[in-house]
Amino acid sequence: TNQTQPHQQASNLWSSRLAFILAAAGSAVGLGNIWKFPYITGEHGGGAFVLVYLVCIAIIGVPVLIAETMIGRRGGQSPVATMRSLTDSEGTARGWRIIGWNGVIASFLVLSFYSVIGGWALVYIGKAAAGLFTGADAETIGGQFGNLLANPWELLLWHSVFMAIVVLIVGRGIRSGLERAVNTLMPLLFILLVVMVFYAMNSGSFGRAVDFMFAPDFSKLTTKGVLVALGHAAFTLSIGIGVLMAYGSYLPKKVNIARTAMTIAVLDTSVALLAGLAIFPLVFANGLEPGTGPGLIFVTLPLAFGQMTGGVLFGVIFFALLLVAAVTSAISMLEPVVEWLEEHKGINRFKSALAGGLAIWFVGIGTVLSFNVWSDIHPLGFLAFFEGKTVFDLLDFLVSNLMMPLGGLAIALFAGWAMRREGLMEDIGLRGGVYRSFMVVLRYLTPAGILVVFLYNLI
Ligand code: PFF
Ligand code: NA
Repeated sequence: TNQTQPHQQASNLWSSRLAFILAAAGSAVGLGNIWKFPYITGEHGGGAFVLVYLVCIAIIGVPVLIAETMIGRRGGQSPVATMRSLTDSEGTARGWRIIGWNGVIASFLVLSFYSVIGGWALVYIGKAAAGLFTGADAETIGGQFGNLLANPWELLLWHSVFMAIVVLIVGRGIRSGLERAVNTLMPLLFILLVVMVFYAMNSGSFGRAVDFMFAPDFSKLTTKGVLVALGHAAFTLSIGIGVLMAYGSYLPKKVNIARTAMTIAVLDTSVALLAGLAIFPLVFANGLEPGTGPGLIFVTLPLAFGQMTGGVLFGVIFFALLLVAAVTSAISMLEPVVEWLEEHKGINRFKSALAGGLAIWFVGIGTVLSFNVWSDIHPLGFLAFFEGKTVFDLLDFLVSNLMMPLGGLAIALFAGWAMRREGLMEDIGLRGGVYRSFMVVLRYLTPAGILVVFLYNLI
């Protein structure tokens, strides 16, 4: 195996704490916030569900976010090399190294399908701008979405464009690629979101949306709702997948990780709540259904835009918002792969981004086809467990329900139990009683919480 070099040289680190916050928040804020959170909130009892979700962010999300970033900064290399050098220097079992491989492979796989969906955002910016929703009925708009999914060439084209954008950003490196992109895109995302919320306040049923999202009705909260909240807390913060380990490897030593992790979690949660306040008022104002699942932002919302004054402009703004959120998440998924190629294969940054991106693009064709030509192909369908799952469903299940939670569990256990304690307090950035309480949560509550979700998802 190749000797790897930690890249903790000043020129190759995030230039500030803010730069890291924007990049990590960019990774966290994605489809999970803009589509999934509002929808599952409505389905599982509104305010009561939001409360449980916040508790889960605190006991699972933030601890793993802190631990993963801390491990990444300590190792200062790709997830694979970081875990190799840490297991050596800590004198722990070599089995922990699987955390690194899990990260590189899971982020590779998740990007292969995320990019296809990112392509939908590109298509919908065009549809909104062309006025295709104006005055259209539910059948027409549903048909537009159906026709997109049925056309492999169109999906492939936009998947390719999306991947090209991601490769061009990541290929330029941490400072002139990722940092410059998030410095522009994250403020833009925030502005677009605020514009959408104001639009919704003035032209939608804002009060009803606020009730729908925040009125706590504990009788509507089920066991399943609690588990969904737990699972989403992990997904929404991008933990357990090597992304934060890779981003943490470029983090200067002086940055306080605990405080930074809190900021990222607050930003991610705020965007999720604001997205709900932008979407639901429009849905309610037009007498539409809030709980339509995958169709919510690609069918229900366009229907609302098609009936409203300013619908063309705000439709474009909404899908631009979706695209920005998707791009800043996608670049984070390519980073572990690129870092691994650079260090282990000795390929320069740009070529690593190109080669990694090309391989991911190729695997993404499986997802493209799973919506049309291969829609009846269920690769592991002979196992009852995977019955009816297309290539896309399988990849999503593998990453979101297996690799991410197990990665998060292993990270909590490694940081909480296996790593030596000296220097840990300083690395994390907590003191005294707060540090001791944090360690109790990381060692017991976090693993227990993840295990419960994991076993539930499996059954
Ligand atoms: N956190 C993203 C979201 O909420 O949409 C999803 C995600 C990003 C998952 C990056 C995994 C990842 F590596
Ligand atoms: Na998120």
